[in-house]
Amino acid sequence: MLILGIESSCDETAASVVKDCRTILSSVVSTQIEEHRKYGGVVPEIASRRHCENILGVVRQALDEAGVSLSDLDGIAVTYAPGLIGALLVGVSFAKALAMSCGKPLIPVHHIAGHIATNYLTHPTLEPPYLCLVASGGHSHIIEVLSYTKFRVVGRTRDDAAGECFDKCARAMGFPYPGGVHIDKASQSGDPSAIKLPRPSVAGNEFDFSFSGLKTSVINMLHNAQQKGTEVNTNDLAASLQSTIAGVLTEHTINAAKALGYRKVALAGGVSANTGVRAALSEACEKEGFEFFMPEKSLCGDNGAMIACQGSYNLLAGITADESLNAVATLSMEEI
Ligand code: KG4
Ligand code: ZN
Repeated sequence: MLILGIESSCDETAASVVKDCRTILSSVVSTQIEEHRKYGGVVPEIASRRHCENILGVVRQALDEAGVSLSDLDGIAVTYAPGLIGALLVGVSFAKALAMSCGKPLIPVHHIAGHIATNYLTHPTLEPPYLCLVASGGHSHIIEVLSYTKFRVVGRTRDDAAGECFDKCARAMGFPYPGGVHIDKASQSGDPSAIKLPRPSVAGNEFDFSFSGLKTSVINMLHNAQQKGTEVNTNDLAASLQSTIAGVLTEHTINAAKALGYRKVALAGGVSANTGVRAALSEACEKEGFEFFMPEKSLCGDNGAMIACQGSYNLLAGITADESLNAVATLSMEEI
């Protein structure tokens, strides 16, 4: 089975061909980061225009590098939710027209399900059910992966996502967008116990997250230091922030696994590239005797292979879209 996957939900135009669900034949990612950097974040209008310019070239390159033509494909998978609506619409409209022109099934893919699928591409033996922590720029979810296509969200962020907290704190610390990776690098030379930061918790659901208080306390600390003319050690602050975020994500995930009886735990999303998060969750799982899975680093950020992989499982489960498929900016995984 050969599936073309198309991703355009944020600032990466990506396409990939995946064979038999788990083998990547090609993966092309055209990132717009440089252009959005000067605004300190993604400008939706610019993102849509760049997707429109790049998508045909990216898809053509993905097909060429895989050595397949449109007629060889078994389906065309596309991210239809969640994300920036204008950005999603470019991918969805393109995929619809392509599917119509070559008479192939159109397969709708939820972006978060795509992130989870990066673990299938990395670990050939991984099969549901298991529990997955998905931490990205827009989401921090603890998800029961009941089957390849059925999900239940048991914990979610009440405000900022983990990646958003990394990025906003990084911006206040003077790092360019997206700052998560710069916090990661700076933290290698910092002391995680040097600065005490609040450990966020929320009332109501012990598996939910809240990162806005942590973000505010980092920003306030930097402003206060600036007003007093004192210095905050950037490396120590980065290390403290990273260890606090990694600690909270890990603690809630392990508690959820124990409460729900999962002994298989996975990690996914852009923040799964973070050294501290990878180490903390992997060590905690080892201590509990849980099997632990995480995507290879090159698959952590947005890419087309994750959409092609999840699209393959959707097709096998009979999940296809008709010509009325639309993009959706916000959509719970339980509604798919
Ligand atoms: O999944 P993703 O590529 O896009 C969304 O679906 O949101 O995630 C992007 C997020 C950004 O917030 C980025 O700063 C964060 O992932 N990120 C990291 C690292 N690499 C990417 N955060 C912390 N440490 C990293 N190494
Ligand atoms: Zn993503």
